[in-house]
Amino acid sequence: MPQIDIALTDIPEGTPYQPGDAPVILIRQGEEVTALAHLCPHLGLPLKKGVVRDGRLMCAFHHACFDARTGRQAQPPGHADLRRYDVTVAEGRVTVDLDDGDPHVTPAHARQSADPRRFVIVGSGATADNCALTLREEGFEGAVEMIGPDGPPYDRTMLSKAVLVGSKSVDDLTLTGREAMADRDIVLIDGTVASVEAGQVVMSDGTRRAFDALLIAPGGVPNRPDLPGIDLEGVHTLRSAAEAEALVAAARGARKVALIGGGFIGLEGALSLAKRGLEVTVVMREEVALARILGERVGRQVMAEHEEKGVRFLTGAKVTGLAGEGRVTGVDLSGHAPVEADLVLLAVGVHPATKGLEGLPLEDDGGVRVGPDLSVPGLDGVFVGGDCAHAPTPFGAARIEHWRVARQHGIRAAHAMLGQADAAPDIPFFWTALGRQYRYLGHAKEWDDILFDGDPEEGPFLARYVKDGRVMAALTAGKDAELADLHLRMIEAGGPLPA
Ligand SMILES: Cc1cc2nc3c(=O)[nH]c(=O)nc-3n(C[C@H](O)[C@H](O)[C@H](O)COP(=O)(O)OP(=O)(O)OC[C@H]3O[C@@H](n4cnc5c(N)ncnc54)[C@H](O)[C@@H]3O)c2cc1C
Ligand code: FES
Repeated sequence: MPQIDIALTDIPEGTPYQPGDAPVILIRQGEEVTALAHLCPHLGLPLKKGVVRDGRLMCAFHHACFDARTGRQAQPPGHADLRRYDVTVAEGRVTVDLDDGDPHVTPAHARQSADPRRFVIVGSGATADNCALTLREEGFEGAVEMIGPDGPPYDRTMLSKAVLVGSKSVDDLTLTGREAMADRDIVLIDGTVASVEAGQVVMSDGTRRAFDALLIAPGGVPNRPDLPGIDLEGVHTLRSAAEAEALVAAARGARKVALIGGGFIGLEGALSLAKRGLEVTVVMREEVALARILGERVGRQVMAEHEEKGVRFLTGAKVTGLAGEGRVTGVDLSGHAPVEADLVLLAVGVHPATKGLEGLPLEDDGGVRVGPDLSVPGLDGVFVGGDCAHAPTPFGAARIEHWRVARQHGIRAAHAMLGQADAAPDIPFFWTALGRQYRYLGHAKEWDDILFDGDPEEGPFLARYVKDGRVMAALTAGKDAELADLHLRMIEAGGPLPA
């Protein structure tokens, strides 16, 4: 029987410890030791890089959070528990039995009772997936129906990264496949919802579906500015798997790419396309990319890292149209010479897909203002989550377009639909692959000061965005454990920390 035998004093506290290349991490809290699987179920990365604090284990990569004693997943982005192995502590020695353990496999769901309720979810993306899974895990026995046009939920964050580079196909991105959905009795309905009425949704084909509770999570739609030439062949946007496949196919025959927009998707896309050997020019209005979100110093560094990889920037540039007859041949600009391009990726933001949905109280940007439980005021049993929700956060109300936030909303909405309010607020977090892996915690619309620990220009750094003496947000490249620790401290504090 394979075993690990180790002295208790050899296991450090406060950090997950992997003995040699054993497939476990040991977590010591005083005299108590837990042995858990060593790889994070989100993307299979090593949990030994993570942080332990107050009974929580946080993965350093995308901040999945687990109960350090049981291995149960408490926070996304993944949705699976860690296998836990049997441990004996006696006379100062720790023995782990690698054969036994609790794999926490979610049993197939055969609905037993005749709960007559029907919970409907609009969309089959990040929020929807986590909501449906959570409903079943919490023992909901009624019908769960997910309505969407894109098939089973998949990880769209990979579209601008591994898929565009060519190292993954869209088929590798499935989160909960058809079989897993069937096992859990989650019904996927192919279609779109056109409007919401009291107790029912109206589908685009005119059919109606009644609901007892409704989660609306249709995500975002890429903006397509009203420009001459916008419909030319060779002009792409990137939101869905189908758009990614079309872009990859177009990239195979292309030489010069113009990327319009210097936001996260534009910059990730620029690097991925440059990696494929294309000549990439990023065209943007701002002088410094991401300065509004990350500050000028980091923005300049991100641009420098892109330039090292061959990406060219055209800043302060206003696009006046796309040139070409039938096919795009370039981008026309005011105040600059046109940019030659046989492929254009438009990455000028998204708007909430709720914009076309009738029956919802929409904000000017198309989002929906919701309460702490994501409920829509005035609409009984209706919740909005993910990219469309203007939700309260400990950093102020915000509509945040990030994966982990959407996954958190899925859990929060499921609990609210079941009448169990989540008291603790969510702390927003996102990551982005801009050459280096950048990770961002909290939410700072503005700041008085940015305090740097380490120089972004030199190597690993952690930046704290301080407003009125409080750390509203933090960003790192390379100091991942420090950021995870800060995250756990923000969870304990319920929001911003003193600077
Ligand atoms: C290319 C790309 C890369 C990204 N990378 C990152 C990253 O690195 N880190 C990060 O934090 N975030 C990233 N994001 C953002 C992240 O993916 C989103 O914040 C997240 O997917 C939002 O989840 P959601 O559930 O709100 O919407 P989505 O995941 O977009 O799902 C919405 C679903 O609803 C469907 N739908 C739309 N309208 C209707 C309707 N009327 N009826 C029924 N269904 C409808 C859509 O087809 C879609 O399937 C990225 C996004 C993209 C596009
Ligand atoms: S690999 Fe652990 S959260 Fe992504």
